[in-house]
Parts: sequence; structure tokens; C-alpha cells
Amino acid sequence: MKVGIVGAGMVGSSAGFALVLQNIVSDLVLIDLNAARARAEAEDIAHAVPFAGSTIVRSGTYKDIADAAVVILACGVSQKPGETRPELLGRNAEVFRAVIGEVMSVSPNAILLVASNPVDVITDISTHLSGLPPARVIGSGTILDTARFRWLIGRHLGIAPGSVHGYVLGEHGDSEVLAWSNTCAGSVPLTAFAAQVGAPLTAEVRARIDTGVRRAAYTIIAGKGATWYGIGAGLARIVKAIARDEQAVLSVSIVEKEVLGVPDVALSLPRLVGAQGVSATLWPDLNQEETEALRLSANLLKDMSDSVVL
Ligand code: 2OP
Repeated sequence: MKVGIVGAGMVGSSAGFALVLQNIVSDLVLIDLNAARARAEAEDIAHAVPFAGSTIVRSGTYKDIADAAVVILACGVSQKPGETRPELLGRNAEVFRAVIGEVMSVSPNAILLVASNPVDVITDISTHLSGLPPARVIGSGTILDTARFRWLIGRHLGIAPGSVHGYVLGEHGDSEVLAWSNTCAGSVPLTAFAAQVGAPLTAEVRARIDTGVRRAAYTIIAGKGATWYGIGAGLARIVKAIARDEQAVLSVSIVEKEVLGVPDVALSLPRLVGAQGVSATLWPDLNQEETEALRLSANLLKDMSDSVVL
């Protein structure tokens, strides 16, 4: 399977590196406006291949991603310290106007995997510009926030994050919704499990985890300028689900016909991901507070998308 990565900055390159380490795809092509950067990243990543598998890694131009099964879009600008994701919208919408046309002209059957922020709105824009069905234009959405949520809960309870089953929904951003009410440790509801192991989820613990998830990017950006490893691994996880037709449940963003009364909005919900992209949305059973928070997030995203003139 061939995967193209448009944008060989830290996010695109980390996704490529994570794909190579897991030997998920046969052919990986990095492209960037800065061709020297793409070439250098491809060479550096290729040097990891002998330790991991047999992926062919190279850099190129749009014609080199012809007939890719998946194209990861990690181009555009990222947040500066103190900047919010929506503040990137104007600049990244402009970038995507140019990039989607180029990608579609060489790879009209690809599944597009959008990583650039504000990722939900850019996913919406990419869906409209590409003319592809929403199931084939997937935003990384809250896959990373869900990972942060599971990791922090796992640490609090002393269990593996992979054994924490719960999701972050809505915007990949400040209005996201941590779906506490249906999160489980194994198959045991979280609150019951936390009490069993003597690590109750007090209001203070929940607030700490909420901040840890919602503010993670701001803290990391303040410390090192950007985030890349977590999202790189998340993008590779989505590609693996596609490459192996896993039908894995992942929290990703696509344009949904309606979410709690809000029409045509891209946001994250748990979804089945496989060879054809998203095959189903798993509507979670939320409490009233979470439902209202998700509606608010959907409205905010809808307003943001509507503000973009394509
Ligand atoms: C993140 O959450 C900045 O959206 C990026 O790490």
C-alpha cells in the first residue's frame, strides 16, 4: 500500500516514522514545498527501515503520490505559543484550497487523512473541495485527545491505557467533551473500578485530568514549540486500521449529516475505520451535561466552517 504525506514538517515526518517502525505500508512518499526538507526527512526516516521492516521511503512531487491509497495532509502552519487552533483557520484554509486540487488530480481515489488545525474545520473544507464522500475524508480529530484521556486515567488507576475504554468527542480543541459517563476500565464502569482500587475519581482528580487533556497541546507548545510524536502515532494508527481493514473503533472527525440538531458538521465521534475509510459512527450514550457540551461544540464548529468562503 502506498501512502503519501503532504507536509514534511514534524507532524508529517513523525507520522512517516511511526508508519515505518510498525512496517505498516509498502511505499511512503513525503512531499513538501521545501523539497530539500522532504528529501532530508525521507532519507532520515529511511535509515530506520533496516531496524523495522521493508517500507520504501522517498520524497517527491505530487505526481509521486499518484494512486496512493491514503494521503496524509499535514501541511500548513501550526500554533505558536499562546495561539489557539481556530486562529490558524484563515492561513490553513488557503493552503488547503491549493493542496486538495493537486492531490485529487493525481490520486482521486485516495482516502484523505487530515491532520492540520483546526482539524475539524479543515476536514470539512477538504470534504467539500475534494468532492469525496465524507467517509473518505478523515480528520485525526480527537484521536490524540482520546489517547491523552486514556493515558491520564490509566496513570491515576494504575492500569494500562489500552485497558481504559473511553473517548473524547466533538472538537479537537477547547470545546472538546470528555465522555466520562460511559468510560470503563476493562468492562467495569470507571467510577466503580476507581472505588474498588482505592483511587476515587474525585472532582479534583477529574478536573486535573480534564485540564491535562484539554490543555496538553498548550503546555507542550510552550515547552518545545509544537507537538508531533503523539499525533504522528495517532495518524499511523488510523492508517493501520485502513491498511488492514480493521474496522477499529477510533475517535476521528468526518462530516456528519447531523449531530444533535446541527447539520453537516465535522467533529469526532467513535467511528469504525477500515479499508473504505469510515464505515459507521457509534453514537455514544451520554449524560445530559455531556450531550449539551457536545451540542455546543458542534454549533461552534458549524459556525467556524460557515465563516469560510470556499
Ligand atoms: C495537539 O493537540 C497541536 O493539535 C495539536 O497536539
